[in-house]
Amino acid sequence: MTAVLAVGSRQNTAERWERRVHLGAHPVLYPVIRGLGGLRPVLRLPGVGVLVSEAGLVREVLMNQELFVKNGPSGSGALWTPVVGRKALVNMDGEEHRLLRRRLGDLFTPRSVEGIVEPAAVVLKNRVHAGFEAHGRVDLVDCVKELAGGVISRLLGVPEDAPGRLADRELFDLGSSISSLVRLGRPTLTERQVAKGKSAVAILAGPVRTAYRESDPDTFPGRLRELGMSEDEAMGIISAFVMVGTETLVSFVPRLVALLADSGRLSELAGDRSAVPAAVNEALRFTVPSPMMLRDAVADGAIGGTKVRAGDRILLSTIHAAKSLGGFDPSQATPQQARQLWFGAGPHFCIGMPLAMAEINTTLDLLLDLYAQRPWHIAGRHVSRGVLIPGYRKLELANA
Ligand code: HEM
Repeated sequence: MTAVLAVGSRQNTAERWERRVHLGAHPVLYPVIRGLGGLRPVLRLPGVGVLVSEAGLVREVLMNQELFVKNGPSGSGALWTPVVGRKALVNMDGEEHRLLRRRLGDLFTPRSVEGIVEPAAVVLKNRVHAGFEAHGRVDLVDCVKELAGGVISRLLGVPEDAPGRLADRELFDLGSSISSLVRLGRPTLTERQVAKGKSAVAILAGPVRTAYRESDPDTFPGRLRELGMSEDEAMGIISAFVMVGTETLVSFVPRLVALLADSGRLSELAGDRSAVPAAVNEALRFTVPSPMMLRDAVADGAIGGTKVRAGDRILLSTIHAAKSLGGFDPSQATPQQARQLWFGAGPHFCIGMPLAMAEINTTLDLLLDLYAQRPWHIAGRHVSRGVLIPGYRKLELANA
C-alpha cells in the first residue's frame, strides 16, 4: 500500500512540474485551450478561428492539403518568407512542396544522421562528464543548447578548424534569435524583426554557401547539392532546419529527463534499456514540444461535422489532442489516431525527426550510463516564462 502511494505521489510530482512548464510559457492561454478542448472536439471561436482538439480530426486536417494550407495568410509558414526566402519547406504547399520533399527523401540516412549528431554528442559527453567531475552538477538545458548548436554547425557545413568559427553555443543563440521572433497571435513579423532575422541568416549563410560551392558530399550543404538542390534552395532548407529544429529539442530533452526522474523511472531504465523507446515516445506524447499547428482553409468544407469556410484560420491543438489521452504512462500504447502526432502528419510531417530522435537518444543514453555508475538527481530547476515553446530555463542535475 505504501509503495503504491509512493509511486502515485511521484507520478503527481512529474505531472505537476509539466503543468508548471506550460503555465510558465502561457499562463492564460494554456488553461483556456485545455478547457475549450474539453468542451467540444471542434469549436468556432469568433474573431480567432476554428479550434480542433481531437487527435483523429487534427490528423484529418493535416492530411487534407486540398482544403487546408500551411502557407496561407494566418498560418505560420508565410511568416518566414521575408527572412529565409520562398523555398524553406515550412512556407510551401502543394506540388512544389511535394516535389521538394520527394527530392529530400534520402536526406537523413542512418549514416548521415550519425555524421551530424556523433561529433556533437562527443562534445556533450565531455561537457557533462567535466561538469559532474569538477562541480558534482550540470545544467542540462545549457548542455542541450550546446548539443543543438553542434548539430547546427554540422548542418551549415562549418569545418572544425575554420578560422573565426562560431562556438556551438553561439550558433545555438543565433538560431534561437531567429525562431524566437515568432509570438502567438502575431501573424507577421515587424520590419525590425525581419531585419534582425535576415542579419542572423546572413551569418549562417556564409559557411553554407562555401560548403555548397566546394561541393563536398561529406558536408550537409554538399549533400543537398548532390540531391539536386540549387544554392538558394539549400540555404532555405538549412535555415528552416535551424529555425524549426532547435527550440523544440531544447524544450523536450530536459522535460523528458525531468519526467523520468520525477516519476522515479531512472533506475529501472538505466538497468533495462529495452524500455527506453516506449518511455521517450510517451514523454513526447505527454509534453507535446510543438503544442499548436496552424492552417488556413482555402475552400468551404467541414471538420468533424462543423462547417468551415474559405479564409477560416484553423488552430490545431495538438496539446489537447495528445494530453487528453491520459497521464504519463510509458506502459500504455498510443491510440492509432494519435501516433506521432507531435511530429505532425501528412505532407509537412517533421522531416527532422530522425535527427531529433538521434539527439534525444544520445543524451538520454549518456545520462542513463552516468546514472548506472553513480545516481544523480534534480538539484534545482526554473521554468521559462513568456516563451512560445514551453520548457525549462534551467534543470540542474547533481550527484547524490
Ligand atoms: C522533439 C523535436 C521536434 C518536434 C516535436 C518537432 C515537431 C514538428 C512538427 C509538429 C512539424 C509539423 C508542423 C506543421 O505541420 O505545421 C515539424 C516540421 C518540421 N520539422 Fe520538426 N520537430 C522536432 C525536431 C526537429 C529537428 C531537430 C529538425 C531539423 C533539424 C526539424 C525540422 C523540421 C522541418 C524542416 C519541418 C518542416 C517540414 C515541412 O514543412 O515540410 N524538426 N516538426
